Amino acid sequence: MRKLTYFVACSIDGFIGDPGGDATSMMAFVDEEMIEFLTSEYPETVSAQGREVLGFGEVKNRRFDTVIQGRASYQIALDAGLTSPYGHMAELVASRTLRESPDPNVELVSGDVVGRIRELKAQDSELGIWLCGGSRLAGELIGEVDELVIKTYPQVYGSGMPMFGADFAVTDFALENVRTFDNGVLVRTYSRKR
Ligand SMILES: NC(=O)c1ccc[n+]([C@@H]2O[C@H](COP(=O)([O-])OP(=O)(O)OC[C@H]3O[C@@H](n4cnc5c(N)ncnc54)[C@H](OP(=O)(O)O)[C@@H]3O)[C@@H](O)[C@H]2O)c1
Repeated sequence: MRKLTYFVACSIDGFIGDPGGDATSMMAFVDEEMIEFLTSEYPETVSAQGREVLGFGEVKNRRFDTVIQGRASYQIALDAGLTSPYGHMAELVASRTLRESPDPNVELVSGDVVGRIRELKAQDSELGIWLCGGSRLAGELIGEVDELVIKTYPQVYGSGMPMFGADFAVTDFALENVRTFDNGVLVRTYSRKR
């Protein structure tokens, strides 16, 4: 079985964005060291737009070959004119309102998202599945998350969009790795205790 990893950026107090989901303030911490980390360790999480800015050539996916996002997160790419923001992976978008996929690389999942993730996990592949977000989709998939990679930016939001839009329930995770960056960013990796 391959893993579903929620790789996400958040504030110290656990918000993935302001109440509307915007996390632009965190971008100030994406400096040279952070870019080097992302491009060497998680290159596939850099979108087509980011790849253009960073001048990416051919880069092999290292951790993930599939990404799933909620329609609200995908909408940000659509609004920017990108129908396939992660064309270097298989892309899935959960939506009950989109009737037709805007791009041949994007599979719409309108019904049983948990069931579709279980099917993908059962597929034979060296690489895993990236749960990109946002909050509502992560809340629905919390039971399927095997790994968390949390990029914590040194900012307190006070309130905002939670990492998981889910009801209260305790789930235990084991800390596997911590990496600190000179600018105060922390990347923690946790695996789910089953
Ligand atoms: N900090 C980070 O690393 C990070 C990462 C990703 C996203 N974000 C932020 O998160 C925000 C969006 O999060 P969000 O919680 O509002 O929305 P979201 O989870 O991205 O998308 C929610 C939408 O997904 C669809 N959906 C969810 N569960 C479904 C299911 N079981 N079956 C079918 N469709 C389902 C629905 O789409 P329909 O309405 O079409 O039915 C729902 O409205 C954005 O502002 C983005 O910037 C932050």
